[in-house]
Amino acid sequence: MSNVFVMNHPLIQHKLTLMRNKNTGSKDFRELVKEVATLMAYEVTRNLPLEEIEIETPLCKTKANVLSGEKIGIVPILRAGLGMVEGMLDLIPTARVGHVGLYRDPETLKPVEYYCKLPPDVQDRELIVVDPMLATGGSSNAAIQFIKDRGAQSIRLMCLIAAPEGIEAVKKEHPDVDIYVAAVDSHLDDHAYIVPGLGDAGDRLFGTK
Ligand code: PRP
Ligand code: URA
Repeated sequence: MSNVFVMNHPLIQHKLTLMRNKNTGSKDFRELVKEVATLMAYEVTRNLPLEEIEIETPLCKTKANVLSGEKIGIVPILRAGLGMVEGMLDLIPTARVGHVGLYRDPETLKPVEYYCKLPPDVQDRELIVVDPMLATGGSSNAAIQFIKDRGAQSIRLMCLIAAPEGIEAVKKEHPDVDIYVAAVDSHLDDHAYIVPGLGDAGDRLFGTK
């Protein structure tokens, strides 16, 4: 079964509250998404394997740890996931970035795919799918399935705010995928928006409403 990690670090919670505030404008909202993504990246990568190498300090030869050639891929779900990429690359600059384009049909609430471009060696990478919002789970489930269909073997999902319904949906469809979130909110409203949530993440990031 998927593990679910809620990252309730005070810095993350503080920034999330600023993002939830409807009076926070796009510029600040974008900066906050980026900053929270960086903080979460620290935790998401906590169990990456290390290997010992020999180096020479100014004093002596010694053995020390480095990441063991693990190749990482960040896969934002367009559009809103884009807001999390730069913050993660700040911490993991060698990661490759794949893109999955999905939007949620407002009538059916089902995800519709319009783009997919992944690194060619996707099967050898630790992939982190990123999207600020996990509502019904339809978009995340579809994105995970697309990248599995293209050979991905190791996938984590990282979202800022999740509804309990979304977490359950991903756990059910992709039990091999660990889920990292900054908050689990109360419920979904009649339009499948997360309550209390932060509204439409894509619109707030890009100023389209
Ligand atoms: C939002 C959000 C997720 C999805 C979550 O994207 O960024 O991708 O909805 O909802 P779900 O869990 O019920 O699928 P949206 O479809 O609004 O597209 P956008 O990022 O282009 O604004
Ligand atoms: N997508 C969003 O951007 N916000 C929600 O609350 C739900 C889906």
